[in-house]
Order: sequence, then structure tokens, then C-alpha cells
Amino acid sequence: MLPGVRPLNGALSRQGQPVYSPGEEIFNRGVSGQGRQVAGMEEGDRQHPAPTAPPGRPHGEKLQLLLRRSQEAKHSAYCPYSRFPVGAALLTAGGEIFSGCNVENACYSLGVCAERTAILKAISEGHTSFRAMAIASDMGDNFIVPCGACRQMMREFGTDWDIYLTKADGTYIVKRLEELLPLSFGPEDLKKV
Ligand code: THU
Repeated sequence: MLPGVRPLNGALSRQGQPVYSPGEEIFNRGVSGQGRQVAGMEEGDRQHPAPTAPPGRPHGEKLQLLLRRSQEAKHSAYCPYSRFPVGAALLTAGGEIFSGCNVENACYSLGVCAERTAILKAISEGHTSFRAMAIASDMGDNFIVPCGACRQMMREFGTDWDIYLTKADGTYIVKRLEELLPLSFGPEDLKKV
């Protein structure tokens, strides 16, 4: 068993499908769609049976494209100070993908993360409903995770969408935004006073 990988608890949905547990799966699908090796696993192996993706969650070619677009965006990163390139790809409810990279500045605090670049691009083109975001970095041993500011920026557009956190080899885990930012403050809260 890989460290940090927990097995599904065997729960079944009413339809008899394994209950999908976000974040508890490490998928060893590379962005090219080829099976990739995860430490201690053979090519094509999985820790568990393939989960059934909930409705609205990207799958198949669309998911592979989203993952690939996040990796491609990483190549545009402007990060001469941190030398830590990040790419993000945002899937709208209508199926369009907007990508972004981190953009740093000699005035360090003005730097913008890849996730926010992608969101700003999508919003400025008229999209406000999102299904998923994939994030890519060069880290080989760790899944890239969004910073707190980006989580809050994502949360503005709902808590019920998926964030694909990848490693450089294309393996990924999926988290609901609700999991990444529990007990969050959002636009609805402003109406409660
Ligand atoms: N960065 C991102 O763009 N996204 C993340 O998820 C983490 C960090 C950027 C910000 C900065 O340009 C560099 O990575 C180092 O923090």
C-alpha cells in the first residue's frame, strides 16, 4: 500500500457501484492516456476497482485533455524568481477549457498563481460556472496543491466542483473544493445579515 493511499471502505451505492471517495484514489493514468507506473505498482495496475465518476465530473478524453492542458500551460510559466512553474486548466460548465500559468514580478508580492490566471481568463470571457480544474507542477513526489488565496478565489464560484492535483508524471488525486476549503465564506454569506 502506498503511503497516504487508503483503500475504499467497501461501501456500495444503491446501484451497487463502489462509492467514490474523492481524494482517496491515486490514478495512474498519464496525461497521454497511457498507464504510468506509480511507485510499487505495475503498469496499468490500480489500488482499487475503477470508481464510477459522479455526474458532471469530467472523464475519458475530456479529462485527459484537461490534464494535458494544465501541463502545457506550465510551460508558459513566468517564474524567474521562484523557478517553480505551475499550470492550471479550468473546465467550464459548457465544456470549454481555459488555461493559466503563474506570472511573477520583480515586485514579488504582485505575482499571480496559475489557478487565478485561469479563473481570471475564464471570467473575463464571460464564464462563471465551472466543473473542474487540473493543476500541474514539476514536483515528482508530491501532488501540487493550491494556495489558500486560490482556494478562496475558486470558492467564489461554488463549493461543488473538482480539483485535480497532479504530479509531474501525470498521476493525480481528485478533491472537491469543499474538501480543500471546508467551512468557507462565500457570496451567499453576504446575504445573511
Ligand atoms: N504557485 C502557483 O501558481 N500555484 C500553486 O498552486 C502554488 C504556487 C506559484 C506561485 C509562485 O509563482 C510559485 O508558484 C512559487 O510559490
